[in-house]
Amino acid sequence: MRYATERGSLLAVDDVSFDIEAGDMYGLVGESGAGKSTVGRAIMRMIEDPGSITGGQVVYGDRDILSVPESEMQTIRGNGISMIFQDPQAALNPVLTVGQQLRRVLRSHADETYSKAEETEQIIDALERVDIPDPESRLESYPVEFSGGMSQRVMIAMALISDPSILIADEPTSNLDVTIEANILDLLEDLQKRKDLTILLITHNMGVVAHHCDRIGVMYAGKLVEEGDVTDVFERPGHPYTRDLVGCVPRPNETRRGQLPTIEGTMPTPIDLPDACYFAPRCSFADEQCWKEAPGTETVLNDQTHRTACHFREEVTNVEDNA
Ligand SMILES: Nc1ncnc2c1ncn2[C@@H]1O[C@H](COP(=O)(O)OP(=O)(O)O)[C@@H](O)[C@H]1O
Ligand SMILES: [Mg+2]
Repeated sequence: MRYATERGSLLAVDDVSFDIEAGDMYGLVGESGAGKSTVGRAIMRMIEDPGSITGGQVVYGDRDILSVPESEMQTIRGNGISMIFQDPQAALNPVLTVGQQLRRVLRSHADETYSKAEETEQIIDALERVDIPDPESRLESYPVEFSGGMSQRVMIAMALISDPSILIADEPTSNLDVTIEANILDLLEDLQKRKDLTILLITHNMGVVAHHCDRIGVMYAGKLVEEGDVTDVFERPGHPYTRDLVGCVPRPNETRRGQLPTIEGTMPTPIDLPDACYFAPRCSFADEQCWKEAPGTETVLNDQTHRTACHFREEVTNVEDNA
C-alpha cells in the first residue's frame, strides 16, 4: 500500500498480514501515521489517489476481495463489511434528517424494495439496536440536534442497517469524552457478543484493547510488528515497542483507560527506509544486526498464534517483570 508524495513513494502498509476470526474483536494499535487507517480503508478498497494498493490479498470468506469487480465490491461494502470513522458529525449530512439518511443507506443496500412503513420499521430497529432512546421521535431530527455520542450511535446504526458481518471502526471514540467513549465501546462489545458481529477496532488506546479485544495487532511505520491474543501479548510481549506500550497499561480487564505512552524518539515515515528494523533508533535491545537487517515475523515461544518481528524476541519475552 503506497502513497505517491512529493518526497517519494511512501510505503504506508507493508507486509501486514493477520486473520480475524468470525465473532472476534480485533484491536489494531499504533501511533498516528503507523498505517492503521490505511489498512482499514484497503480492506474496504477505499484507497484513493495518491494511494494505491500494490499487492496482497484481502480474503473475505473464501475470496480475495481485492480482485472482485467494483460492482460486487459495492455489495460487499455495507452488506458484508462496513466502516465507521472518527468524526460522525463530518460523515453525517447536516441538511438531511437522521431518518432520511438511514433510509438512503437502507435503499442503497437492500436487495428487495420495501414499503415506506417497512423501511421505517427497519430504521427504528437499527436505532434501537444502538440504544438510542425513543427512536421514533428522533427520525425527524437533524444531526446537529444529536450529541457526539448519539451521532456516533447513529453512524453505527447506519453501518449496521444492511446487516454486515464485519464492522471496521476507525478510532470511533477519539473525539468523545471518557464516559461516552466507554458507553460506545460497551455498545460495540455488546454487538460483537450478542449479534455475533466481527469487529476490527482501530485505536491508539492500549487500555481499550486490553478491556475489549480478543486479539491485538501492533503497527509501527507501516509494519505489523506484533500480533497475538490480547492476554498473551500483554503478558509476554515479544517486541520492545509492544513492551513499552504494555508497560504503561494495567492488565487486561483491569481498566479501560491508558493512551499510548510517550516513548522517546519518533516513528520514521516509511519513505526509502533502509533494510533495518525501523524501531532500532528507539530500542534498548538493538544491536548491529538490527541496523542491517529487517527482522522477519516469527512466532514467540513457538506459539503459532503469537508472532512478532524482532531479532530479540526471545530475550524481550524473557525479561522479568514486564508489567
Ligand atoms: N492521502 C494520503 N496521501 C499521502 N500520504 C498519506 C495519505 N494518507 C495517509 N498517508 C500517509 O500514510 C501513512 C499512514 O497513514 P494512516 O494510515 O492514516 O496512519 P494511522 O491511521 O495509523 O494514523 C502516514 O505516513 C500518512 O502520512
Ligand atoms: Mg488513522
